[in-house]
Amino acid sequence: MALVQWVFRLLVVLIVSQSVCVMFFYTLDTHSHGDALTDSLQLLRCARLRRRFSVLTPAKSLNMKKFSQELSDFLNCPYKQNTSEQQFNRMRLQYCCNATHSLILTKRNTAVDHIITYETEGKRTYRVKADLHKMLPEDSPWSAGALGLCAVVGSSGILKNSSCGRQIDSADFVIRFNLALVNDSDVGLKTDLMNINPSQILTQYKTMEQDPGPLVERISVYGNSSLIIPAFAYGFCTSPSLRVLRVLQPIRPQQPVVFFNPHYLRALDRFWKWRGLKEPRLSSGFILISAALEMCEHVHVYGFWPFGTDLQENPVPYHYYDQSKPSPYMHRMPEEFVRLLQLHSQGALTLHLQPCHTP
Ligand SMILES: *[C@@H]1O[C@H](CO)[C@@H](O)[C@H](O)[C@H]1NC(C)=O
Ligand SMILES: *[C@@H]1O[C@H](CO)[C@@H](O)[C@H](O)[C@H]1NC(C)=O
Ligand SMILES: *[C@@H]1O[C@H](CO)[C@@H](O)[C@H](O)[C@H]1NC(C)=O
Ligand SMILES: *[C@@H]1O[C@H](CO)[C@@H](O)[C@H](O)[C@H]1NC(C)=O
Ligand SMILES: *[C@@H]1O[C@H](CO)[C@@H](O)[C@H](O)[C@H]1NC(C)=O
Repeated sequence: MALVQWVFRLLVVLIVSQSVCVMFFYTLDTHSHGDALTDSLQLLRCARLRRRFSVLTPAKSLNMKKFSQELSDFLNCPYKQNTSEQQFNRMRLQYCCNATHSLILTKRNTAVDHIITYETEGKRTYRVKADLHKMLPEDSPWSAGALGLCAVVGSSGILKNSSCGRQIDSADFVIRFNLALVNDSDVGLKTDLMNINPSQILTQYKTMEQDPGPLVERISVYGNSSLIIPAFAYGFCTSPSLRVLRVLQPIRPQQPVVFFNPHYLRALDRFWKWRGLKEPRLSSGFILISAALEMCEHVHVYGFWPFGTDLQENPVPYHYYDQSKPSPYMHRMPEEFVRLLQLHSQGALTLHLQPCHTP
């Protein structure tokens, strides 16, 4: 209503185009009408940006300046959660992949002598022997939509000085990656699920059997969080993953070590490939965001930013916790990030790319 009125008035002003008329126009109207116009234009702009980002496609090259400008404008628009979109995504993912039941190997979904096919090497298999089976959890601890508000915390340098710690810690369930450092100010301390990369184990904890101290010290920072490892992604992953399970289960039974089920990972890979996401393997970040879309009521994503500069075009460290260098992804619109932006625009998850406001 107000908008139609204003467009009409604007037209009158434009057609007559006389300062007298414009003055008359403004004297008749109160200040709040001026605000209303600004608000209406802003709403239109937000709707346009929301549409644009919800159908965004990956680009080989990107005008970073324009992209940053539009994205930061869009992030200043009110966030619109869409519960039916969330339910729709949850159902699609349940139907295809069933994280609730199949994300990890359990006694319930894996029998003794079960033959596991590796995620990325279809010809390689592994027979589950009784001693491994004995160490698997009875059943999956998570059920669909039951985890409440989840925070998935990536490692991007945009979390530096973000003050997001308090907000992240207020989530019901917090997922982190690669034994990343935690701290109260920027990234929070709460951790419920920690992804571990098997190559990290190979390089940093070679002697964990003889001396489990350093590994135990590192993981106890995360309290009683579960540790999840892609033990059957590639052939080389299995041995370090099994070693971590054997070393930690007797010493820290309160901190379960669980393995991704490669059956789930292959189904998820097909799900996203079918939707045009073309890459050799999904990142662990994207995998656990997908699982969270199924298992959580709402998903908040922090620290996922694949570019070398932030929205204000300041350089961003690759990781918030170390000095490692940016990947060759730089200046190429990474495929996964495009999906996250789409999901954000559709109201299916909330992407945090700016510092958090402390109350
Ligand atoms: C929410 O999502 C549903 C299903 O995708 C869509 O039909 C509907 O238009 C969306 N609602 C809003 C307010 O965007
Ligand atoms: C997920 O798997 C469990 C166990 O097989 C099954 O009971 C449930 O119906 C499955 N969910 C869907 C949506 O297929
Ligand atoms: C938290 O981490 C940030 C960035 O990693 C760092 O700048 C800050 O000093 C840390 N704060 C504490 C209390 O450790
Ligand atoms: C974080 O803040 C510190 C101190 O205010 C500053 O020296 C540093 O450059 C900031 N880092 C980033 C990545 O913004
Ligand atoms: C962690 O587990 C131990 C042993 O089960 C328990 O005593 C402790 O309260 C738990 N800590 C938290 C923070 O839940």
